[in-house]
This record gives sequence, C-alpha cells and structure tokens, in this order.
Amino acid sequence: MNEQKPIIQAISSKKLSRYNGDALIIGVCEGDDAPVGLDYCDDAVGKMVNNALKAGWCSGKPDSTQIVSVTKGKKSNVERVILVGLGKLDKLTLESMRVAGGKVFGLCKGAGIKRAAVLMTSDDLAEMKSSAIIDAFSEGLRLATYSFNRFKSDDEASEATLEQIDLACAEVDQAESILGRMEHVANGVMLARDLGNLPGNVLFPDQLAQEAKKMADGLPITVTVLDEHDLQKKGMGGILAVGQGSKKPPRLIVMEYKGAGDAQPLAVVGKAVTFDTGGISLKPPAKMDEMRYDMCGGAAVIGFMQSVAQRKLPINVVGIVPSAENMPGGQAIRPGDIITSAKGLTVEVLNTDAEGRLILMDALHHAEQFNPHTVIDFATLTGAVIVALGNQASGVMSNDEALTAQLQEAGKDTHERVWPLPLFPEYQDQLKSVAADLANVGGREAGTITAGCFLSRFVGEGRRWAHLDIAGTAWDMGGKCAYSPKGAVGVGVRLLNRFVDQNLL
Ligand code: BES
Ligand code: MN
Ligand code: ZN
Repeated sequence: MNEQKPIIQAISSKKLSRYNGDALIIGVCEGDDAPVGLDYCDDAVGKMVNNALKAGWCSGKPDSTQIVSVTKGKKSNVERVILVGLGKLDKLTLESMRVAGGKVFGLCKGAGIKRAAVLMTSDDLAEMKSSAIIDAFSEGLRLATYSFNRFKSDDEASEATLEQIDLACAEVDQAESILGRMEHVANGVMLARDLGNLPGNVLFPDQLAQEAKKMADGLPITVTVLDEHDLQKKGMGGILAVGQGSKKPPRLIVMEYKGAGDAQPLAVVGKAVTFDTGGISLKPPAKMDEMRYDMCGGAAVIGFMQSVAQRKLPINVVGIVPSAENMPGGQAIRPGDIITSAKGLTVEVLNTDAEGRLILMDALHHAEQFNPHTVIDFATLTGAVIVALGNQASGVMSNDEALTAQLQEAGKDTHERVWPLPLFPEYQDQLKSVAADLANVGGREAGTITAGCFLSRFVGEGRRWAHLDIAGTAWDMGGKCAYSPKGAVGVGVRLLNRFVDQNLL
C-alpha cells in the first residue's frame, strides 16, 4: 500500500566534498559549535556553515532548524545546508535521534529537496554507540515517510519529492547492515499501520486473513486460516461467540516461520477485533469510529512475522491472530450467555464489550499446541489501561519477572515503552461467576489487571507468558510524534524485533 519511498543509503563521509545532491543536513547540539563531519565538506561550504553558527542562526535547541543558502563552488553542488537542532550533547537519546530523523524528512519534503546527505557521527555520543545513532535516525526518517492515502482522491503523497537520503558515515559497510535491518523492521511497522488504518467495512476478519496470506507471499511463512466451521470443530466458543453477531464470520489466522529447525518457537498472539461496537452492551457513540483500531494487536503480529522472515532470523516464531467483528446483530451473544472455551472452561459473558479476552482465550489455548518457550500477546484490551498509563506506555502483565524486565529493556530502546502491573492471585476473585467457571468482567476496580487475570487462566501451566495491553499506545489521533502520523502507530513491531535481538539471537 506504501509504494513510493525515498531510498536511504550509506555513503562514505569522504565523498562529501564532491557531493552533488541538493542539500547537506547537519545536526547541531546546543552549546556545541563543532558539528560532526563538517571537516569532510567542501571548505567553502564549511566556512559558510561556521559563519551561520557563529551568527547564532541555529541554537541547537531541539526545535531550532535553519536552512542556510550556500553558493555552488567548483567542488560542491549543494545550494542549501539544513541545520537541525538536537538539544544538549549529553542529553541526546535514541528517541531524540529518531525524532530528528522524522523532522529531517518533514523539512526536506517542505523545502522540495530531492536528494540530500546527512552527516552522521562516527563517535559514540552520550553513551550511545554511533551504530545505534545511525539506526535510530534512519528509522525515524523512514517511519516518517509513512502516509495512509488509499482513500484520498488527490494523492498527497505524490507531492512528496524526497527521493534519496545519503547517510554520510565513516564505516559504510557497518551502516549498510544497520540500514538493512532497519528497512525490514520499518516494513513491518508500516504494514501494521496500513492494516490498523483500514476501516471496518474494508478490513473484516476474512479480509485480514487474506492480508496475512498476501504478506507471506514469497516469504518462508506458512499461513493457516481457520474459518467458522474449523473453529466449530476445535470448540473455539470464544471466537465464535464474539463473531456471531456479525454477517462477517470470524477467523483464526496462524502464521508459522521456521528459521531454527525443531527448536521451540516464540509465540506471538494479537487481538484483531476488526470493529468493536461493544455488541449488545453497545458502546456510546463518541469516538466509536476509533474502534476500527481494535485489531492493532493482530496487525502488530502480522507486521512482526513479516520482519522476522525478511530478516531471515535463525529462530522459530508462530503468530496467532484471532479475528472477529463485534456487532450487535440478531444472532449476537447476550449479556448472561454462558459459552465454552476451547480449553473447556465455561465463561459467563456479563458484558459483551469485554470481547477481546473471549477471542484471546481460545488463541492462547491454541498457542499451547506449538509448545512455545514464550508467549507474548498484544491487545487493545481495556480503556482502563489508558486511565492508568495514558498514551506513554503499554501495560505489561506477566508470570515471569525476567520476561517483564526484558520487555521493559526493549521498550526503553525503541521508545515503545511498557510498564508492569501486578497479577496478584487475589485479583482472580473478581472474576468469580455464580453460574460458570469464570465471568468475563471483574468490575470497575483494576480493570486492566482483571483482564490480564482472565487471560492467565488460558495460558498453559508453567508457560512463560506476557500480556501487553496496548489500548493507549496503538493509535494516536494527535500526530505530534515526528515519525508517526495520525492513526495507527504500528506499536509492538519494533518492540518485538528488539526483544528478539536482545534475547533470542
Ligand atoms: N477495545 C476495547 C478497549 C478499548 C477501549 C481500547 C477504549 C481503546 C479505547 C475493549 O474491547 C473494551 O471494550 N473493553 C472494555 C472492558 C470492560 C467492559 C470490562 C472497557 O475497557 O471498557
Ligand atoms: Mn470491547
Ligand atoms: Zn475491543
């Protein structure tokens, strides 16, 4: 769905003095008058930039940018130098690099620049490796190029003129391998965003299954789709119950990637309610349109599977995406209905709007078939997690403290931050039902935790598992992040890629 995108490539810093693109892009730190790489530039250009900095044209503060017009010389073709403020040198973070990358794309687009070189550092700065800086910067730039314009008649994307960004680095080979990984990860994020952004009438469960098959086309991923008849045979009463109020039947999408023979796989599970009206326990109209994003957990899993396969990682991964449309049709489940899960436990559906856990219970049980070493699920599960953490972090609930710490670490590095909530056994009491094994809601208190407790009942005994509630992080209608436009964020894809890099490779 995203066709045109500028090429990001690495060139040697030594080639800068004869660079014949449209512009040079230089990062400037606050209180530091010696930006990196300037010595590689044409002397005349270097002088002009130094003069601009001396004159205080760019303070180096994170919001200060300046376009300096420079004269073409015998050795240099560039006519513009863009100075980008990065903040104080000792305060630089991977996130500020990512944001800088996003801003550079915006500046180039706004200034009609077709080809520009960015002077990358060869030094480790503020405890970050230069390789991590190149990674974060290029990732921010690439992700900022995303737009969802499939339904716009006048294609705004065609106005984007940026064709090529040359990262001027000391070590080109190293930069190329960083860029290779980054592209595969970013492709996964952008696929997750596309799927997330598609409206409910276009992306219904079977369509999502088709998209998963399309994703796997040409990649070593086996996709199996269970339709309503298969679900019936497997006794997946939760997925069927949520789907029964809709004309669009539910699906269970299973994606298998084998990069490590018979080794135990990592299982990733993602909630994909393609639209959540609440069912008979109907949601209020305000912002109900945003429930088209209620499949972002599943989208993250599909995007992640793509990046794992594109990266040819030497691990085994199984992605499991239960998908249903939660509608209040004549066949819909009623509050008070008792359903039977694939595991055999019966559930009293006190609120049909707590549907995510009903499809996940069968998907988590299905994951057991693969004997995974770890199960991680992603779900836009509760509004309560937004009350607890706002939009700055996903909630993580786990039966394994080390796994929680690993996810927090990956979250810190990717800025897809996660924060733990406890699953104390006492919370399980809130899920007691008079008539069934458990109820699907646990009252107003600790709503995110009781949802996590509900899921925990369907995870195999002793299985390492973490649940991420991404209701507050999966989409962003503000569009204030420099590398993530309004709409689906694609959250989870970068986190999982980092988690795998740090713990499974
Ligand atoms: N998809 C929603 C959760 C949600 C709500 C995500 C708002 C993002 C924004 C989920 O299916 C839901 O409706 N959860 C209920 C659970 C309740 C009935 C126990 C909720 O959070 O209100
Ligand atoms: Mn709901
Ligand atoms: Zn939902």
